[in-house]
Amino acid sequence: MYVAGHRGLVGSAIARHIEARGEQEWIGQTRAELDLLDRDAVFDFVKATKPDSIVVAAAKVGGIKANSTYPVEFLTENVQLQSNLMDAAHAADVPRLLFLGSSCIYPKFAEQPIREDSLLTGPLEPTNDAYAIAKIAGIRLADGYRSQYGRDWISAMPTNIYGPGDNFDLETSHVLPALIHRFHMAKVSGAKSVTLWGTGSALREFLHADDLAEASLFLLDSYHEPGPINVGFGEEIAIRDLAGIIAEVVGFEGEIEWDSSKPDGTPRKILDSSRVRALGWEPRVQLRDGIRHAYEWFLAG
Ligand SMILES: NC(=O)c1ccc[n+]([C@@H]2O[C@H](COP(=O)([O-])OP(=O)(O)OC[C@H]3O[C@@H](n4cnc5c(N)ncnc54)[C@H](OP(=O)(O)O)[C@@H]3O)[C@@H](O)[C@H]2O)c1
Repeated sequence: MYVAGHRGLVGSAIARHIEARGEQEWIGQTRAELDLLDRDAVFDFVKATKPDSIVVAAAKVGGIKANSTYPVEFLTENVQLQSNLMDAAHAADVPRLLFLGSSCIYPKFAEQPIREDSLLTGPLEPTNDAYAIAKIAGIRLADGYRSQYGRDWISAMPTNIYGPGDNFDLETSHVLPALIHRFHMAKVSGAKSVTLWGTGSALREFLHADDLAEASLFLLDSYHEPGPINVGFGEEIAIRDLAGIIAEVVGFEGEIEWDSSKPDGTPRKILDSSRVRALGWEPRVQLRDGIRHAYEWFLAG
């Protein structure tokens, strides 16, 4: 199996799981070894290695600020790298391919929990619509290869992912690693309080990267349908409660204050993952254990 993006949060978890299962070899290339925007190089690599399957876990990924500042790069780089990989996989006759998208492909006001059939039923969240449109194009391309050329390729849409290998940069990280970093800094500096944005009432869903890795291998083994399939934890948590758990895991004993003049974001966002669950996959990593795991990685890094 070729894991494109094997040094990222998701790709590294998939590589670890392939090794743990011990049934299959995997290959990966760093960006220095293979720039996925270099179409000829991607074709040469896939043709030379002829993997039995490819996971597209490489993408240009970022937070709201990066997405809204650089829509051109988020659109063009993602469309290019996923098209290069899929076109090269087709040219080399690769039988299985898993394309990883994101829950931001769904309409901003989709009914919650978000079902797969809400795709393209309403306007997208404007702050990351360029990224979302690239991901929707990726799903359509995998489906096109299925209908036009009979390729048994699939697309999975994960919820918010966290775990070892995450981005903990305070400027660019997602909420969970950012909270780990902030509470850690507050503990180390002996701060009496930490002030967080919003009221803490927004509800979000978080899945450990190890669970997504298992789901990815499970889907590659057993799923053969077009269109996106959601992969979520299935339970939501208020940001206030998440902050409480992270403070406990990190050992921050000061006050948590909420700046309600700042936005909460969308009040609720959770995927309906009943389809993948009905097939037999379910997450195993409980949030507190997963956060401990991520914090250990952060401390070791
Ligand atoms: N993290 C989440 O919460 C989340 C949630 C839902 C879906 N996903 C999806 O899961 C996939 C992986 O996300 P992630 O969080 O693992 O991202 P990540 O940690 O940023 O990893 C992405 C990987 O892609 C590589 N890459 C990007 N552009 C490349 C290029 N031109 N050539 C070669 N390699 C390139 C990066 O290499 P460098 O390290 O060299 O940049 C990195 O290793 C994405 O499709 C994302 O949409 C993630």
